[in-house]
Amino acid sequence: GFSWKLNDHPKLPKGKTVAVVVLDGWGEAQPNQYNCIHVAETPTMDSLKNGAPDRWRLVKAHGTAVGLPTDDDMGNSEVGHNALGAGRIYAQGAKLVDIALETGKIYDGEGFKYIKECFENGTLHLIGLLSDGGVHSRLDQLQLLLKGSAERGAKRIRVHILTDGRDVLDGSSVGFVETLENDLAKLRGKGIDAQIASGGGRMYVTMDRYENDWDVVKRGWDAQVLGEAPYKFKNAVEAVKKLRELPNANDQYLPPFVIVDDNGKAVGPIVDGDAVVTFNFRADRMVMLAKALEYEDFDKFDRVRFPKIRYAGMLQYDGELKLPSHYLVSPPEIERTSGEYLVHNGIRTFACSETVKFGHVTFFWNGNRSGYFNPELEEYVEIPSDIGITFNVQPKMKALEIAEKARDAILSRKFDQVRVNLPNSDMVGHTGDIEATIISCKAADEAVKMIIGAIEQVGGIYVITADHGNAEDMVKRNKKGEPLLDKNGNIQILTSHTTQPVPIAIGGPGLAPGVRFRKDVPNGGLANVAATVMNLHGFEAPSDYEPTLIEVVDN
Ligand code: 3PG
Ligand code: CO
Repeated sequence: GFSWKLNDHPKLPKGKTVAVVVLDGWGEAQPNQYNCIHVAETPTMDSLKNGAPDRWRLVKAHGTAVGLPTDDDMGNSEVGHNALGAGRIYAQGAKLVDIALETGKIYDGEGFKYIKECFENGTLHLIGLLSDGGVHSRLDQLQLLLKGSAERGAKRIRVHILTDGRDVLDGSSVGFVETLENDLAKLRGKGIDAQIASGGGRMYVTMDRYENDWDVVKRGWDAQVLGEAPYKFKNAVEAVKKLRELPNANDQYLPPFVIVDDNGKAVGPIVDGDAVVTFNFRADRMVMLAKALEYEDFDKFDRVRFPKIRYAGMLQYDGELKLPSHYLVSPPEIERTSGEYLVHNGIRTFACSETVKFGHVTFFWNGNRSGYFNPELEEYVEIPSDIGITFNVQPKMKALEIAEKARDAILSRKFDQVRVNLPNSDMVGHTGDIEATIISCKAADEAVKMIIGAIEQVGGIYVITADHGNAEDMVKRNKKGEPLLDKNGNIQILTSHTTQPVPIAIGGPGLAPGVRFRKDVPNGGLANVAATVMNLHGFEAPSDYEPTLIEVVDN
């Protein structure tokens, strides 16, 4: 029968404190002026790279290695932390939705049948991120869902868009809105009343995460549900173009707008009897809106009106909370994660990050599961992120505070595993501000130094790695790898993640002298890290885990 008991590792001892550090958005790429990690002063990470050659290597962090549909898909924190924590590769939301749409199974499921009940007398509202980034959503999936819903009886459709510029180039929102408008015009040609109803930039409207700032969700609610926004336009393409001209505006931060008819009336507020689908497959930035749409009791902001709707998520965003209760596609069932195994085997675990990445080292790491496995053995600490700013003005973020918490946890000797996420290179990289990103990388490096220092004091082991690339390449490139210029001759800034591999380094006084990276897992990826960490705690990994990256040679 099944047992949580892990076998002892034949050669590696138990009882060492293991620090696991995830540098968010820290990939490996050619050294050049757009590689902020290369330009930044990063002596700690440099010394790991240039130190023992068999204790530093690269691992894959994108595409099929982390369960994404193709190897053109850049990595992201959700799939990266899932792989790191679960030790196996699961088909992820993007791929599961693709399959459900291709096979048509999406329309036979409970979720679609549930919302379809409203098609006769109500409006179908689709809310989500409008781009082809493939991190939270994909435009082609929205297009198929629109078509499929129309074919199955939706007579009135309203789309509430969130512009991207974070997983795709800034400015690309205009083209995506044009594409969507074109599709909606075709539907209108078939007698379906289909329109864009509202919009806003993803970082300012709706897509907050980990309850960092509920005002973001409220701004979206006002536009999407109440039909109220500071800006009113008759046409969404015009809206996006005009709002981009505002000072400091960009795709990520467009203010909320509603589309109005000739009488100035919003064309698509959400009312009793309507159906709503949030078409993002990724959970972290949709779960707050899901709560607002679904919970009868809700006190995060004044909803003013709480319409009686039928609501379904593209996926179920939180399996523990069963939220939302209706969904079009079943999420990956990630079970028996390394965190759960280790806790069952007595490993006392500490995890910490600041708000914007807190759920990454807890919820995503634990297979999209909220809370503790065993509160007596675990402590998760969230350091509040600064709110209301873009992180290029505060590139050090809370790196020092996170490192101090980790240091104290290590020195307390109350924990066997101390796990952190350092958000800097990712969060500042996403702003596209190269100068600030360089500062952010330095701050992350200093945090790593502090954590390694504590590990040295207690005779422990460190594992330093990353979840995907970002700051190592800040320019959009052509197929040959040359920087692309825009029409004014400026380089096109890459705010998104990359397809680059990420480093993993192991070390510390507690690491047995014969431990080194194996040579026979050249294609190792993030999913191989879980077994590696289990070994460092003195255990063998379960047999269905991706193989460990390390071996122990006698010397
Ligand atoms: C975001 O949500 O900020 C980006 O779309 C992806 O970034 P993350 O995967 O690093 O969180
Ligand atoms: Co990111």
